[in-house]
Amino acid sequence: MAEAILQVSGLVKHYPLTQGILFKKQVGAVKAVDGVDFELARGETLGIVGESGCGKSTVAKMLVNLEKPTAGEIRYKGDDIGKLSGKALRSVRRNIQMVFQDPYTSLNPRMTVGDIIGEPYEIHPEVAPKGDRRQKVQELLDVVGLNPEYINRYPHQFSGGQRQRIGIARGLALRPEIIVADEPVSALDVSVQAQVINLMDRLQSEFELSYIFIAHDLSIVRHISDRVGVMYLGRIVETGKDAEIYDHATHPYTQALLSAVPVPDPEARERRERIILAGDVPSPTNIPSGCRFRTRCWKAQERCALEVPLLAVPAEFRDVSGPAAHDSACHFAEETVVVPAEETDADGNGNGNGPG
Ligand SMILES: Nc1ncnc2c1ncn2[C@@H]1O[C@H](COP(=O)(O)OP(=O)(O)O)[C@@H](O)[C@H]1O
Ligand code: SF4
Ligand SMILES: [Mg+2]
Repeated sequence: MAEAILQVSGLVKHYPLTQGILFKKQVGAVKAVDGVDFELARGETLGIVGESGCGKSTVAKMLVNLEKPTAGEIRYKGDDIGKLSGKALRSVRRNIQMVFQDPYTSLNPRMTVGDIIGEPYEIHPEVAPKGDRRQKVQELLDVVGLNPEYINRYPHQFSGGQRQRIGIARGLALRPEIIVADEPVSALDVSVQAQVINLMDRLQSEFELSYIFIAHDLSIVRHISDRVGVMYLGRIVETGKDAEIYDHATHPYTQALLSAVPVPDPEARERRERIILAGDVPSPTNIPSGCRFRTRCWKAQERCALEVPLLAVPAEFRDVSGPAAHDSACHFAEETVVVPAEETDADGNGNGNGPG
C-alpha cells in the first residue's frame, strides 16, 4: 500500500446524556462512534457506508475538527492532530477539507458564490492574497464546470447539482490533500449523481486528492472507491478492497446491504438473494453486548452475545489468500453469493449458504 496520509485508530465520540436542570447528572451516552480504525493512502478513495445514524457524519466531523473525539487518534502524515497547535494545526486543517451532504442548506443563501468559495481565504489568507482572490475563485468555478461569470450570483439561482459543484469548489479553495465528502450526492437526483461523482473522479487525478467518500448505499461508492469500510452502530464491521466487499463479503450485515443494491440485469435480479433484516437498528445509547449486529443477524448464536468479534481476517480465511481473506468482524464469517457475479467476474466463489 502507498504511504498512509491518514491513520485513524480507536476513534470514539460519545455524547453525554444528562438529566436534571440545575444539577446535571450524566445518565448515559449516545455512542455515535465507538472505536473506529482505518487508514487512507495517498491518492486513494476510501468509501464509508452504513445506514443512517451509524456515525458516518460524526467520523467526518472529527476528521475536519468540527467535533472533538472522546478518545482515539487521528494521524495526518504521522502527526497526532489532537496534539498539534498553532501553525502546525492550521496547516493540517487546511489540508483536510469537507464537502457537505446537502447543497441546499450548506451554502449561505445571502452570500454570493464568489464570497462562499472565497470564504476559506479569510481564515487562510496566506493561500491567496486579497488581490488574487477573485481570479482564484473564477478559476475554481471553471475547474468544477461552472461559468466563471456566475461569480456574483446567489445559491438559489443554481440547481442542486450546480450547488454541489459550488460546495466542491469551496472544498478545493485551499488546495487540500484530503477531501472528506459526507454523502455528497445523496440529496441529488439520480441523473445528476453520476455527473458529480465523475467530476470528483476527475478532480482527484487533477489535484492528487485522497478521498473519504461517505454514502448510505453501497451502489453509490462502488465506482469511486478503492476500498470500502462498512459501518454499523458506530463501528466498522467489514473492510476491504472494492472487489473483496462487493463480490466476496463475509459479514452478514454487508451481505444484507448488498442484497438491497439495485441490479440492472433482470435475470441476475431474479437469482439474487434478498436478505430482509429483522427489527430496527438498536439505539446507540444501548449497544448490544458481544456483536453489536446480533439483534438483527439471522446467524446469531450464543457466542455472539458473549464475545465481541474483532475487525480482522477471520480465522477460517487466514490460511487462504483469496479475496475472502479481508477484515470482517464476525465469529461466523463466510462468503454468500448475494448478488450474482457479472459475466466478467464469473468465478462463482460462493458456498450457497444463504440465509434460510
Ligand atoms: N450532537 C449530538 N448529540 C447527541 N447525539 C448526536 C449528536 N450528533 C449525532 N448524534 C447521534 O449520533 C448517532 C450518529 O449520528 P451521525 O454521525 O449523524 O450518523 P450518520 O451520519 O451515519 O447518519 C445518531 O444516533 C445521532 O442521533
Ligand atoms: S458475530 Fe454472530 S451476530 Fe455478529 S455478524 Fe457474525 S454471526 Fe452475526
Ligand atoms: Mg450523516
